[in-house]
Order: sequence, then structure tokens, then C-alpha cells
Amino acid sequence: MKIFLDSADTSIIKKLYCTGLIDGVTTNPTLIRKSGRDPIDVYSELQELGVPDISMEVSGDVGEMYDEAQKLASQFGQVATIKLPMTVDGLLVCQQLSKQLIRTNVTLIFSIPQAILAAKAGATYVSPFVGRLDDQQIAGLEVVRGISSLYSSKGIRTQVLAASIRNVHRAVRSFYNGAQIVTMPPNVFEDMYNHMLTDAGLDIFQKDINAMSN
Ligand code: G3P
Repeated sequence: MKIFLDSADTSIIKKLYCTGLIDGVTTNPTLIRKSGRDPIDVYSELQELGVPDISMEVSGDVGEMYDEAQKLASQFGQVATIKLPMTVDGLLVCQQLSKQLIRTNVTLIFSIPQAILAAKAGATYVSPFVGRLDDQQIAGLEVVRGISSLYSSKGIRTQVLAASIRNVHRAVRSFYNGAQIVTMPPNVFEDMYNHMLTDAGLDIFQKDINAMSN
């Protein structure tokens, strides 16, 4: 049950990585753009922080994606996971990288047929987008469940990394539905700590501690 942060905001990631509960980070061009920084600077900072698994998205045609992936893999070594789009070109590059034992994350997965092809291409991870499926009135968690149960019944090693997670309920249910990894925005991770009964219980205990010391 691994938790990744879906963010390129290194100051927030730094703060949350200190909890010891974060297993990796996923980025994408939108998150990098939002950070206002060069992607290489973001990845370098995360590597220095000790993040062991960083998804770095590549773009362009087959040759461009392959070359970018090689550069990232040689610069960042074991921490680099190359994020590829769920396209014909993306899966061609995925096959080449998996032969070289470079970790891959096939992103923008919205259906089981796509997940079958990505697994056949040797993807390390597939990223079904739960929230964006829900936006289309398609149950994102059902897609996670379908992919996970198919992979486990066929003994497929590709792992399901649930993405586009917007609240704690979807994060937790993704694990219930078979995802090995859930990547979530920092605010969703922080919400996982919270429960009103924990706060209420702490208040009562604190009152009792205060009463005893009077
Ligand atoms: O990991 C993919 C994620 O960043 C997309 O999330 O909320 O934009 O659909 P969202």
C-alpha cells in the first residue's frame, strides 16, 4: 500500500516527506507548469530530498520521448520513472524502456483495454484517472477494480497506480479496489490524518490532564 504525492511543489513535498509515510512523487506537465520551475530543477530537488521514485513525464514523437527518457534515466538513475502517454508511440517507447529495465508509468488510462495494452508493453505502473472518469459519470473506482482483478487473475506484474484522486474517500477506495499505489495531492494526504472524534478525544484528554495538574 504505497502513497505517492501528486505534486511538483517541492516545499510542500519537503514538509510532507518528513512524515516518513510517502513512497514517491508523480508529476505531469500541468503540475510542473504550475510550479513555475524547470522540470530538471524540480526532479533534482526531490532526488536530494531522498524521494526514491519520481514519475517524470516525457513528450513528443517516439524518438523524442525515447531520447528524453534516456537522458532522465542516466541523470536520475534508480529514482526515475518515465511517464509515458497511453498512445501507440507511448507504448512503443514503453517496450524499449522496459527491455532496459527502466521503470515506466503509462498515464491517462481510462479503460481496461488500455490497461491490457500497457501491461503487454511491459509498463511498471498504469495510472487510471479516477477523478476524470467520475467527471464523465463513469465510476473511476470500477475501472481500478477491473484492471486490478484482471492483472491479479493473469499474474501480471504491472502495478495499478490510481491517479486523479481528489478526496480521501477515493484514495481509500482505490486501495480497496486493488490499487497497489495511490498518488494524491498534498491536501488529500493531509486530510487522511483527520477525524473529528480524534480531535474531540484529544480535547477531553487535555482537559483531564489540565484538571490533574491543578
Ligand atoms: O495524476 C494525474 C492527476 O494529476 C490529474 O488529476 O485532478 O487534474 O484530474 P486531475
